[in-house]
Amino acid sequence: MAHIGKDIEKAIRLLNDGEVIGIPTETVYGLAGNALNNDTVARIFEVKNRPSFDPLIIHTNSIKRFQNYISEIDERVYTLAEKFMPGPLTLLLPRKDIIPDLVTSGLENVAIRIPNHPLTLELLSQLEFPLAAPSANPFGYISPTNAIHVNNQLGDKIKYILDGGDCQVGIESTIVGFVDNEAIIYRKGGLSIEAIETIVGKVNVIEHSSSNPLAPGMLKSHYAPKKPLILLNKNQVIEPEKKKIAYLGFKQYNPFIPVENQLLLSPNGDFREAARHLFAYMRYLDAMDVDIIYTELLPEKELGRAINDRIRRATVKE
Ligand code: TXA
Ligand code: MG
Repeated sequence: MAHIGKDIEKAIRLLNDGEVIGIPTETVYGLAGNALNNDTVARIFEVKNRPSFDPLIIHTNSIKRFQNYISEIDERVYTLAEKFMPGPLTLLLPRKDIIPDLVTSGLENVAIRIPNHPLTLELLSQLEFPLAAPSANPFGYISPTNAIHVNNQLGDKIKYILDGGDCQVGIESTIVGFVDNEAIIYRKGGLSIEAIETIVGKVNVIEHSSSNPLAPGMLKSHYAPKKPLILLNKNQVIEPEKKKIAYLGFKQYNPFIPVENQLLLSPNGDFREAARHLFAYMRYLDAMDVDIIYTELLPEKELGRAINDRIRRATVKE
Protein backbone atom coordinates (compact mmCIF):
# COMPACT_ATOMS: atom_id res chain seq x y z
CA MET A 1 0.00 0.00 0.00
CA ALA A 2 1.09 3.58 -0.61
CA HIS A 3 2.09 5.96 2.17
CA ILE A 4 -0.49 8.65 2.79
CA GLY A 5 0.57 12.02 4.21
CA LYS A 6 0.78 15.78 3.90
CA ASP A 7 4.52 15.94 3.21
CA ILE A 8 4.99 18.32 0.28
CA GLU A 9 8.79 17.94 0.34
CA LYS A 10 8.43 14.20 -0.12
CA ALA A 11 5.94 14.71 -2.97
CA ILE A 12 8.39 17.09 -4.68
CA ARG A 13 11.27 14.64 -4.28
CA LEU A 14 9.29 11.78 -5.80
CA LEU A 15 7.96 13.91 -8.69
CA ASN A 16 11.45 15.25 -9.45
CA ASP A 17 12.58 11.61 -9.60
CA GLY A 18 9.96 10.91 -12.28
CA GLU A 19 7.61 8.99 -9.97
CA VAL A 20 3.82 8.97 -10.17
CA ILE A 21 1.89 9.92 -6.99
CA GLY A 22 -1.67 10.64 -5.86
CA ILE A 23 -2.55 14.33 -5.40
CA PRO A 24 -5.66 16.09 -4.10
CA THR A 25 -7.61 18.63 -6.12
CA GLU A 26 -10.93 20.29 -5.39
CA THR A 27 -12.65 18.09 -8.00
CA VAL A 28 -11.27 14.55 -7.61
CA TYR A 29 -7.86 13.06 -6.73
CA GLY A 30 -5.33 12.91 -9.56
CA LEU A 31 -2.65 10.39 -10.51
CA ALA A 32 0.15 12.86 -11.12
CA GLY A 33 3.57 12.94 -12.72
CA ASN A 34 5.92 15.20 -14.69
CA ALA A 35 3.97 16.04 -17.87
CA LEU A 36 7.20 16.80 -19.75
CA ASN A 37 8.78 13.41 -19.06
CA ASN A 38 7.72 10.72 -21.55
CA ASP A 39 8.55 7.78 -19.29
CA THR A 40 6.55 9.24 -16.44
CA VAL A 41 3.56 9.93 -18.67
CA ALA A 42 3.73 6.37 -20.02
CA ARG A 43 3.76 5.13 -16.42
CA ILE A 44 0.57 7.10 -15.66
CA PHE A 45 -1.23 5.30 -18.49
CA GLU A 46 0.12 1.99 -17.23
CA VAL A 47 -0.87 2.49 -13.57
CA LYS A 48 -4.37 3.59 -14.57
CA ASN A 49 -4.68 0.90 -17.21
CA ARG A 50 -5.80 3.61 -19.59
CA PRO A 51 -5.70 3.36 -23.38
CA SER A 52 -3.08 5.72 -24.81
CA PHE A 53 -5.60 7.32 -27.20
CA ASP A 54 -7.25 9.02 -24.21
CA PRO A 55 -5.30 12.27 -23.53
CA LEU A 56 -4.34 13.76 -20.15
CA ILE A 57 -4.96 17.15 -18.52
CA ILE A 58 -1.90 19.12 -17.41
CA HIS A 59 -2.01 21.06 -14.15
CA THR A 60 -0.14 24.19 -13.23
CA ASN A 61 -0.49 26.92 -10.61
CA SER A 62 -0.88 30.19 -12.52
CA ILE A 63 -2.22 31.63 -15.76
CA LYS A 64 1.16 33.24 -16.23
CA ARG A 65 2.75 29.82 -16.56
CA PHE A 66 0.30 28.87 -19.34
CA GLN A 67 2.54 30.66 -21.82
CA ASN A 68 5.20 27.98 -21.33
CA TYR A 69 2.82 25.28 -22.58
CA ILE A 70 0.33 26.86 -24.99
CA SER A 71 0.97 28.93 -28.08
CA GLU A 72 -1.91 31.38 -27.96
CA ILE A 73 -4.78 32.55 -25.81
CA ASP A 74 -7.23 35.15 -27.05
CA GLU A 75 -8.74 37.82 -24.87
CA ARG A 76 -12.10 36.18 -24.29
CA VAL A 77 -10.49 32.92 -23.22
CA TYR A 78 -8.14 34.86 -21.00
CA THR A 79 -11.13 36.53 -19.32
CA LEU A 80 -12.68 33.12 -18.74
CA ALA A 81 -9.44 31.85 -17.21
CA GLU A 82 -9.07 34.93 -15.00
CA LYS A 83 -12.61 34.55 -13.74
CA PHE A 84 -12.64 30.83 -12.93
CA MET A 85 -9.04 29.73 -12.36
CA PRO A 86 -7.98 28.30 -10.01
CA GLY A 87 -11.18 26.24 -10.16
CA PRO A 88 -12.99 23.29 -11.73
CA LEU A 89 -12.39 24.45 -15.32
CA THR A 90 -10.17 22.85 -17.98
CA LEU A 91 -9.36 24.69 -21.22
CA LEU A 92 -8.39 23.04 -24.51
CA LEU A 93 -5.78 25.30 -26.10
CA PRO A 94 -3.14 25.00 -28.85
CA ARG A 95 -0.10 23.32 -27.36
CA LYS A 96 3.56 24.18 -27.64
CA ASP A 97 6.02 21.49 -28.80
CA ILE A 98 7.34 21.06 -25.27
CA ILE A 99 4.19 19.04 -24.46
CA PRO A 100 4.81 15.38 -25.39
CA ASP A 101 2.53 13.73 -27.97
CA LEU A 102 1.69 11.10 -25.42
CA VAL A 103 0.02 13.71 -23.17
CA THR A 104 -2.37 14.90 -25.89
CA SER A 105 -2.61 11.57 -27.74
CA GLY A 106 -1.24 13.46 -30.74
CA LEU A 107 -3.99 16.13 -30.71
CA GLU A 108 -3.07 19.75 -31.41
CA ASN A 109 -4.72 21.08 -28.27
CA VAL A 110 -3.59 20.42 -24.75
CA ALA A 111 -6.05 20.33 -21.83
CA ILE A 112 -4.85 22.64 -19.05
CA ARG A 113 -6.17 23.57 -15.63
CA ILE A 114 -5.30 25.19 -12.30
CA PRO A 115 -6.68 23.07 -9.45
CA ASN A 116 -8.06 25.03 -6.53
CA HIS A 117 -6.52 23.13 -3.65
CA PRO A 118 -4.04 24.85 -1.29
CA LEU A 119 -1.70 21.86 -0.89
CA THR A 120 -1.52 21.14 -4.61
CA LEU A 121 -1.14 24.82 -5.55
CA GLU A 122 1.81 24.97 -3.14
CA LEU A 123 3.23 21.77 -4.66
CA LEU A 124 2.85 23.08 -8.23
CA SER A 125 4.48 26.40 -7.31
CA GLN A 126 7.60 24.49 -6.26
CA LEU A 127 7.88 22.33 -9.39
CA GLU A 128 9.56 23.32 -12.63
CA PHE A 129 7.16 21.30 -14.76
CA PRO A 130 3.37 20.90 -15.05
CA LEU A 131 1.73 17.73 -13.72
CA ALA A 132 -0.17 15.43 -16.03
CA ALA A 133 -2.97 13.95 -13.95
CA PRO A 134 -5.98 11.88 -14.86
CA SER A 135 -8.42 11.00 -12.11
CA ALA A 136 -6.72 8.47 -9.82
CA ASN A 137 -9.05 5.54 -10.50
CA PRO A 138 -8.61 2.46 -12.65
CA PHE A 139 -9.94 3.23 -16.14
CA GLY A 140 -13.74 3.12 -16.21
CA TYR A 141 -14.38 3.04 -12.44
CA ILE A 142 -15.67 5.81 -10.16
CA SER A 143 -13.28 8.74 -9.55
CA PRO A 144 -11.73 9.03 -6.05
CA THR A 145 -12.69 11.88 -3.74
CA ASN A 146 -10.37 11.09 -0.84
CA ALA A 147 -6.92 9.55 -0.28
CA ILE A 148 -8.36 6.23 0.97
CA HIS A 149 -10.25 5.74 -2.31
CA VAL A 150 -6.95 6.15 -4.18
CA ASN A 151 -5.10 3.82 -1.85
CA ASN A 152 -7.77 1.11 -2.11
CA GLN A 153 -7.47 0.91 -5.86
CA LEU A 154 -3.99 2.05 -6.85
CA GLY A 155 -2.08 1.80 -3.55
CA ASP A 156 -0.02 -1.17 -4.64
CA LYS A 157 1.23 0.67 -7.74
CA ILE A 158 2.30 4.05 -6.32
CA LYS A 159 4.53 5.06 -3.39
CA TYR A 160 2.81 8.13 -2.06
CA ILE A 161 -0.55 9.87 -1.86
CA LEU A 162 -0.60 13.50 -0.81
CA ASP A 163 -3.57 13.79 1.53
CA GLY A 164 -5.67 16.91 1.09
CA GLY A 165 -8.85 15.61 2.74
CA ASP A 166 -12.22 15.19 1.02
CA CYS A 167 -12.62 16.89 -2.37
CA GLN A 168 -14.84 19.94 -1.96
CA VAL A 169 -16.34 19.90 -5.47
CA GLY A 170 -16.50 16.13 -5.91
CA ILE A 171 -16.96 15.81 -9.69
CA GLU A 172 -14.38 16.42 -12.40
CA SER A 173 -13.64 19.78 -14.02
CA THR A 174 -15.74 21.20 -16.85
CA ILE A 175 -13.81 20.94 -20.15
CA VAL A 176 -14.17 23.87 -22.55
CA GLY A 177 -12.71 24.14 -26.05
CA PHE A 178 -13.07 26.67 -28.85
CA VAL A 179 -13.84 26.07 -32.51
CA ASP A 180 -14.13 29.09 -34.84
CA ASN A 181 -14.42 31.32 -31.82
CA GLU A 182 -17.33 29.34 -30.42
CA ALA A 183 -17.08 27.85 -26.94
CA ILE A 184 -17.84 24.15 -26.72
CA ILE A 185 -18.37 22.10 -23.58
CA TYR A 186 -16.70 18.71 -24.04
CA ARG A 187 -17.37 17.53 -20.52
CA LYS A 188 -19.90 18.91 -18.03
CA GLY A 189 -18.31 19.27 -14.64
CA GLY A 190 -17.81 21.18 -11.42
CA LEU A 191 -18.18 24.63 -13.04
CA SER A 192 -21.74 25.09 -14.28
CA ILE A 193 -22.51 25.88 -17.91
CA GLU A 194 -24.61 28.82 -16.70
CA ALA A 195 -21.52 30.33 -15.02
CA ILE A 196 -19.43 29.92 -18.17
CA GLU A 197 -22.16 31.52 -20.29
CA THR A 198 -22.04 34.69 -18.18
CA ILE A 199 -18.55 35.26 -19.63
CA VAL A 200 -18.57 33.80 -23.17
CA GLY A 201 -22.28 33.85 -24.08
CA LYS A 202 -24.18 30.83 -25.37
CA VAL A 203 -22.11 27.66 -25.56
CA ASN A 204 -22.52 24.37 -27.42
CA VAL A 205 -22.60 21.19 -25.41
CA ILE A 206 -21.27 17.96 -26.88
CA GLU A 207 -23.26 14.99 -25.67
CA HIS A 208 -21.35 11.76 -25.22
CA SER A 209 -21.36 8.88 -27.59
CA SER A 210 -19.97 5.41 -27.21
CA SER A 211 -17.73 5.82 -30.23
CA ASN A 212 -16.79 9.38 -30.99
CA PRO A 213 -13.39 9.29 -32.67
CA LEU A 214 -12.88 13.03 -32.16
CA ALA A 215 -13.20 12.79 -28.41
CA PRO A 216 -11.89 9.37 -27.55
CA GLY A 217 -11.86 10.02 -23.82
CA MET A 218 -15.54 10.68 -23.73
CA LEU A 219 -16.73 7.14 -23.91
CA LYS A 220 -20.25 6.69 -22.67
CA SER A 221 -19.69 4.01 -20.07
CA HIS A 222 -17.65 5.57 -17.30
CA TYR A 223 -17.67 6.32 -13.61
CA ALA A 224 -19.37 2.98 -13.21
CA PRO A 225 -19.79 0.97 -10.02
CA LYS A 226 -19.38 -2.80 -10.33
CA LYS A 227 -22.98 -3.50 -9.36
CA PRO A 228 -25.71 -2.71 -11.89
CA LEU A 229 -26.94 0.87 -11.45
CA ILE A 230 -30.47 1.35 -12.80
CA LEU A 231 -32.34 4.62 -13.39
CA LEU A 232 -35.86 4.87 -12.03
CA ASN A 233 -38.48 7.18 -13.47
CA LYS A 234 -40.37 9.51 -11.17
CA ASN A 235 -42.86 7.59 -8.97
CA GLN A 236 -41.97 4.29 -10.63
CA VAL A 237 -43.20 1.39 -8.51
CA ILE A 238 -40.61 -1.26 -7.79
CA GLU A 239 -42.03 -4.77 -7.88
CA PRO A 240 -40.97 -6.89 -4.93
CA GLU A 241 -38.22 -9.19 -6.14
CA LYS A 242 -35.78 -11.54 -4.56
CA LYS A 243 -32.88 -9.16 -5.19
CA LYS A 244 -31.41 -6.99 -2.45
CA ILE A 245 -31.85 -3.40 -3.53
CA ALA A 246 -30.03 -0.19 -2.60
CA TYR A 247 -31.08 3.33 -3.57
CA LEU A 248 -29.14 6.50 -4.30
CA GLY A 249 -31.60 9.40 -4.16
CA PHE A 250 -31.34 13.17 -4.51
CA LYS A 251 -33.38 14.52 -1.60
CA GLN A 252 -36.17 12.04 -0.83
CA TYR A 253 -36.15 8.40 0.19
CA ASN A 254 -37.82 5.88 -2.09
CA PRO A 255 -40.92 4.43 -0.39
CA PHE A 256 -40.44 0.97 -1.90
CA ILE A 257 -36.92 0.30 -0.60
CA PRO A 258 -35.75 -0.35 3.00
CA VAL A 259 -34.52 2.98 4.29
CA GLU A 260 -31.31 1.48 5.71
CA ASN A 261 -30.30 0.64 2.12
CA GLN A 262 -30.67 4.24 0.94
CA LEU A 263 -28.41 7.28 0.72
CA LEU A 264 -29.53 10.81 -0.16
CA LEU A 265 -27.11 13.07 -2.02
CA SER A 266 -28.54 16.20 -0.40
CA PRO A 267 -31.66 16.14 1.80
CA ASN A 268 -31.88 19.95 1.33
CA GLY A 269 -31.69 19.67 -2.44
CA ASP A 270 -28.35 21.47 -2.70
CA PHE A 271 -26.51 20.65 -5.97
CA ARG A 272 -23.06 21.40 -4.57
CA GLU A 273 -23.59 19.08 -1.64
CA ALA A 274 -24.94 16.42 -4.02
CA ALA A 275 -21.84 16.69 -6.24
CA ARG A 276 -19.56 16.47 -3.21
CA HIS A 277 -21.26 13.22 -2.11
CA LEU A 278 -21.90 11.55 -5.46
CA PHE A 279 -18.82 9.37 -6.00
CA ALA A 280 -18.27 8.45 -2.34
CA TYR A 281 -21.90 7.34 -2.06
CA MET A 282 -21.69 5.29 -5.26
CA ARG A 283 -18.65 3.56 -3.81
CA TYR A 284 -20.38 2.97 -0.50
CA LEU A 285 -23.44 1.38 -2.08
CA ASP A 286 -21.25 -0.62 -4.44
CA ALA A 287 -19.53 -2.16 -1.38
CA MET A 288 -22.81 -2.94 0.42
CA ASP A 289 -24.35 -6.39 0.47
CA VAL A 290 -26.89 -5.67 -2.28
CA ASP A 291 -27.43 -7.00 -5.81
CA ILE A 292 -28.57 -3.88 -7.55
CA ILE A 293 -28.56 -0.09 -7.04
CA TYR A 294 -31.47 2.05 -8.18
CA THR A 295 -31.07 5.77 -8.65
CA GLU A 296 -32.79 8.88 -10.04
CA LEU A 297 -31.86 12.00 -11.99
CA LEU A 298 -31.65 15.51 -10.52
CA PRO A 299 -33.28 18.60 -12.04
CA GLU A 300 -31.48 19.29 -15.35
CA LYS A 301 -29.85 22.64 -14.47
CA GLU A 302 -26.65 24.03 -12.92
CA LEU A 303 -24.53 21.27 -11.37
CA GLY A 304 -27.52 18.94 -11.72
CA ARG A 305 -26.57 18.61 -15.40
CA ALA A 306 -23.04 17.44 -14.61
CA ILE A 307 -24.27 15.08 -11.90
CA ASN A 308 -26.90 13.61 -14.25
CA ASP A 309 -24.19 13.12 -16.86
CA ARG A 310 -22.20 11.01 -14.35
CA ILE A 311 -25.29 9.06 -13.30
CA ARG A 312 -26.34 8.34 -16.90
CA ARG A 313 -22.87 7.17 -17.83
CA ALA A 314 -22.61 5.02 -14.72
CA THR A 315 -25.81 3.22 -15.76
CA VAL A 316 -24.46 2.32 -19.17
CA LYS A 317 -22.65 -1.00 -19.58
CA GLU A 318 -20.79 -1.17 -22.84
O1 TXA B 1 -11.14 17.45 -12.48
C1 TXA B 1 -10.40 16.94 -13.31
O2 TXA B 1 -10.33 17.35 -14.47
C2 TXA B 1 -9.51 15.76 -12.85
C3 TXA B 1 -8.49 16.30 -11.83
C4 TXA B 1 -7.53 15.23 -11.38
O3 TXA B 1 -7.82 17.40 -12.38
N1 TXA B 1 -8.87 15.13 -13.96
C5 TXA B 1 -9.56 14.35 -14.83
O4 TXA B 1 -8.76 13.73 -15.77
O5 TXA B 1 -10.75 14.18 -14.77
P1 TXA B 1 -9.25 12.50 -16.65
O6 TXA B 1 -8.04 12.09 -17.40
O7 TXA B 1 -9.88 11.48 -15.78
O8 TXA B 1 -10.27 13.12 -17.66
C6 TXA B 1 -9.80 14.04 -18.62
C7 TXA B 1 -10.68 14.11 -19.81
C8 TXA B 1 -10.67 12.83 -20.64
O9 TXA B 1 -12.00 12.55 -21.02
C9 TXA B 1 -9.83 13.20 -21.85
O10 TXA B 1 -10.22 12.52 -23.01
C10 TXA B 1 -10.09 14.69 -21.98
O11 TXA B 1 -10.17 15.14 -20.65
N2 TXA B 1 -8.96 15.36 -22.61
C11 TXA B 1 -7.71 15.51 -22.12
N3 TXA B 1 -6.92 16.14 -22.98
C12 TXA B 1 -7.65 16.40 -24.06
C13 TXA B 1 -7.39 17.02 -25.32
N4 TXA B 1 -6.18 17.48 -25.63
N5 TXA B 1 -8.40 17.11 -26.22
C14 TXA B 1 -9.63 16.62 -25.91
N6 TXA B 1 -9.95 16.01 -24.73
C15 TXA B 1 -8.97 15.91 -23.83
MG1 MG C 1 -11.33 10.16 -15.25
